[in-house]
Amino acid sequence: MDLSPYLHALWYVLPSYFANMSPVLLGGGKPLDMGKNFIDGRRILGNHKTVRGFLSGLLIGSLVGALQGRLLQGFALSLGAMLGDCIGSFLKRRLGIAEGRPAPILDQEGFLVFSLLLASPIESLSLESILFLLVITPLLHWGTNLMAHLLGLKEVGH
Ligand code: CTP
Ligand code: MG
Repeated sequence: MDLSPYLHALWYVLPSYFANMSPVLLGGGKPLDMGKNFIDGRRILGNHKTVRGFLSGLLIGSLVGALQGRLLQGFALSLGAMLGDCIGSFLKRRLGIAEGRPAPILDQEGFLVFSLLLASPIESLSLESILFLLVITPLLHWGTNLMAHLLGLKEVGH
């Protein structure tokens, strides 16, 4: 069995994983939506999407990309991850799902899909690699969330 497409996929996506994990540790403070409501009367994004979290994800993910010798790609992946994360929260609020409550698929794959989209003009992945990432990411996501929950970093371990 040739593992290289899978190893390449994990190496490729490493900046998005780091970007996605950073806000849990470094986020907090002012919400990105400035506390404002959308036209449906619910919050645009909610209190859990903060300016500091967004910027820390962008910074740490780009740093990982720089260490890989792929600064621009790391930046695109991180920006995609942070935008995808916010789009996920925007959709959750529209659906009436409270901040921090789970939304299957959206929570686990949203950041990944937008990450891959934004980075694809720089370097595209094979279909096999993309499918692998779509399968493995929710598993890694649940694993790290459980750990964050057990360490008291996150209220809900989803
Ligand atoms: N976080 C942050 N800023 C961001 C993204 C995340 O400060 N831009 C922090 C928040 O403390 C958040 C935690 O990271 O509670 C976990 O992020 P995530 O699971 O993406 O958010 P949820 O708490 O599930 O909120 P939502 O329902 O809006 O997705
Ligand atoms: Mg969440």
